[in-house]
Amino acid sequence: MKSAVFGLVSGALLLAQDAAAVPGPAPSKWVMKTENGQNYACKCHPGDPCWPDSAKWRRFNNTVNGNLQVHIPPGAACYNTFEGPFGVVNTYNEAECQTVTANWYDEQFQIDHFAAAGLWTYFTNDTCRPTTNPSDSCTLGYYGPIVLNAKKMQHIKAGVDFARQNNLRLVIRNTGHDFLGRSVGWGSLIINTHSLKDIKFHKRWMGGCGYSGPAVTLGAGVQAFEVLEKANKLNPPKVVVTGECATVGVSGGLVQGGGHGPFTNFHGFLADTALEFKVVTADGQFRTASPRTNSDLFWALKGGGPGAFGVIVEATFKLFDDKPSAGVNLDINLSGSTDPNAVDLFWNAVGIFHSYSTQWVDEGLYVYYELGTMGHNLRVHPFVGIGKTPQELAALLQPMFNELNALGVPYTTSNASFPTFYDLYNAMFEAEVAGNSALTGGWTLAREDVEANPAAVVDAFKKVLAAGSFMVGHMWNAGRGLPQSQWSQSAINPRFRHVVDKLITIVPVGGNAPLNVKAEAQNRLTNVVDKALRDASPNGCSYVNEADPFTPNWQDAFWGTNYPKLLNIKKKYDPEGVFYAVSTPGTENWEQIETGTRLCKKL
Ligand SMILES: Cc1cc2nc3c(=O)[nH]c(=O)nc-3n(C[C@H](O)[C@H](O)[C@H](O)COP(=O)(O)OP(=O)(O)OC[C@H]3O[C@@H](n4cnc5c(N)ncnc54)[C@H](O)[C@@H]3O)c2cc1C
Ligand SMILES: *[C@@H]1O[C@H](CO)[C@@H](O)[C@H](O)[C@H]1NC(C)=O
Ligand SMILES: *[C@@H]1O[C@H](CO)[C@@H](O)[C@H](O)[C@H]1NC(C)=O
Ligand SMILES: *[C@@H]1O[C@H](CO)[C@@H](O)[C@H](O)[C@H]1NC(C)=O
Ligand SMILES: *[C@@H]1O[C@H](CO)[C@@H](O)[C@H](O)[C@H]1NC(C)=O
Repeated sequence: MKSAVFGLVSGALLLAQDAAAVPGPAPSKWVMKTENGQNYACKCHPGDPCWPDSAKWRRFNNTVNGNLQVHIPPGAACYNTFEGPFGVVNTYNEAECQTVTANWYDEQFQIDHFAAAGLWTYFTNDTCRPTTNPSDSCTLGYYGPIVLNAKKMQHIKAGVDFARQNNLRLVIRNTGHDFLGRSVGWGSLIINTHSLKDIKFHKRWMGGCGYSGPAVTLGAGVQAFEVLEKANKLNPPKVVVTGECATVGVSGGLVQGGGHGPFTNFHGFLADTALEFKVVTADGQFRTASPRTNSDLFWALKGGGPGAFGVIVEATFKLFDDKPSAGVNLDINLSGSTDPNAVDLFWNAVGIFHSYSTQWVDEGLYVYYELGTMGHNLRVHPFVGIGKTPQELAALLQPMFNELNALGVPYTTSNASFPTFYDLYNAMFEAEVAGNSALTGGWTLAREDVEANPAAVVDAFKKVLAAGSFMVGHMWNAGRGLPQSQWSQSAINPRFRHVVDKLITIVPVGGNAPLNVKAEAQNRLTNVVDKALRDASPNGCSYVNEADPFTPNWQDAFWGTNYPKLLNIKKKYDPEGVFYAVSTPGTENWEQIETGTRLCKKL
């Protein structure tokens, strides 16, 4: 299907733009709009007079060695036609449709499609899902219409230059994991970094940073599992600080948001371990960001917000020794119980579980759990003891098991131990699925609040579930292993250093649901679900990569006292707003108007 369809669409693209070309003086770079009495200056989107004409697109395509593609969502193969911004094309292809249908929930399938953001489809408008009814309509939703598959730094530079010169909305798309819709954008030019897969190990880092240990340089497209697999083969086996998810990109959104994972107890966030970046900034310059060169940009790229300061081409991180590790799983499921006291019993069990959070993280345990995915169920998969023997881990958990036993809580448990954490990771961490639609929010619980009022935590969890949400928790201590003198060397919110549990809330809702249904779900997430957690931990904060983009006072929630400095760095490196990602530094005057489509600056 591919080449024929893209050829056709390209033709349509050229014709449409030639017809729309306006003779006379060059059109303004900005499109003026008014909505609800507010005036806006908007970026150039398809159909606007300032949208580049066909000759410009053709020249640009030549500059990037023909790596420009018109975007057709993967599900289009199941529909007779795709109704894109540049015309209607026939797309039905039975074999291709079967492949897409079979793989829709497979993360890597979605990641490898050059622009799909199918991991969390809500922000695509949940458009063009595979169907058995080919006469349904397949549209682009909030996907960008044109994708640059960058193969080298020069392509990224050309993409940034073209977007800046033509005032296009620019989206950087690596794996499409972003929960907040930052890797899709209506009417945008997308730079896809997924092909930049270089991995280079350094026995000794010679680039300074007060560090001369082992390191690894990762191209922007490298995913966690790719570097972990290679690092494990070194002698002795090494690790990079990555998240629990194997398929996220390391040098893209993860480091710019922070990047927390099982090794956070020992080395802080991934961002705390970064040594150097190569980055293309808004002016199209290729820069090094390190402690010695552009040190302000270096600081901002370490947790200051994804897609806000430049396009990372590659990043270098510290490598650490891996260690023998032990894991335990725990399942408590009272969903189907006929016992009239089951609900109380369940919440008592949750209270017991959570009361150990501070002790566990102080001992260096990482605890990954899901609460309420099936009603009254708690699923800890797993408790991780890095550098611990099974006996040591069991001893740390025994007090909890004693309390659960005394109360008569039914549960199942299992355990295993491994020569390295990497082996545990492969054996005990569960693969995630793609293709589902939900709103994501979250908050963190600060040690002082958990200690002062543990009952408030359980009450908040009850409210979250009662409001139709479920949760994913991550217990770690980001201030434990990293010397306090280094905490401020990255843009991570200082409040994160005393967090003991980082929660994600998930409110299922179709991205193609009626607008009033979407508005109700968003309101529930912000003002009921996450509010309950904020109330339970006023000293907590929020993680820019796993949060509600409409978190009240997001600047403070995401960055605390670091925000004013980040805003100045944004103004210095991207004064015109070439880069936009929702709720990142400097975006307070930007809005997506016309029901989440046009990207505009408030006047
Ligand atoms: C199943 C799942 C599990 C997760 N688990 C964890 C976890 O354990 N720990 C954790 O910290 N996070 C976790 N996350 C969140 C993760 O940190 C974010 O989704 C992250 O933004 C993914 O980055 P990406 O580059 O892979 O994704 P993308 O969606 O492609 O990009 C994310 C953001 O980064 C920007 N970006 C991407 N590449 C570049 C680049 N080269 N230069 C500039 N900007 C760029 C994009 O524009 C976008 O704003 C998880 C997410 C999912 C879906
Ligand atoms: C860019 O050029 C390549 C190679 O000639 C072509 O296959 C592709 O369709 C072009 N892209 C667009 C958007 O026209
Ligand atoms: C997005 O979906 C809504 C329905 O939820 C629909 O009204 C709207 O037209 C869609 N927008 C786009 C850009 O596809
Ligand atoms: C929990 O129990 C319910 C009812 O028995 C069952 O439907 C569900 O599959 C169980 N969930 C898990 C995760 O085992
Ligand atoms: C691990 O599980 C086995 C049962 O499979 C049990 O006998 C053993 O005590 C457990 N060990 C630890 C350390 O938890």
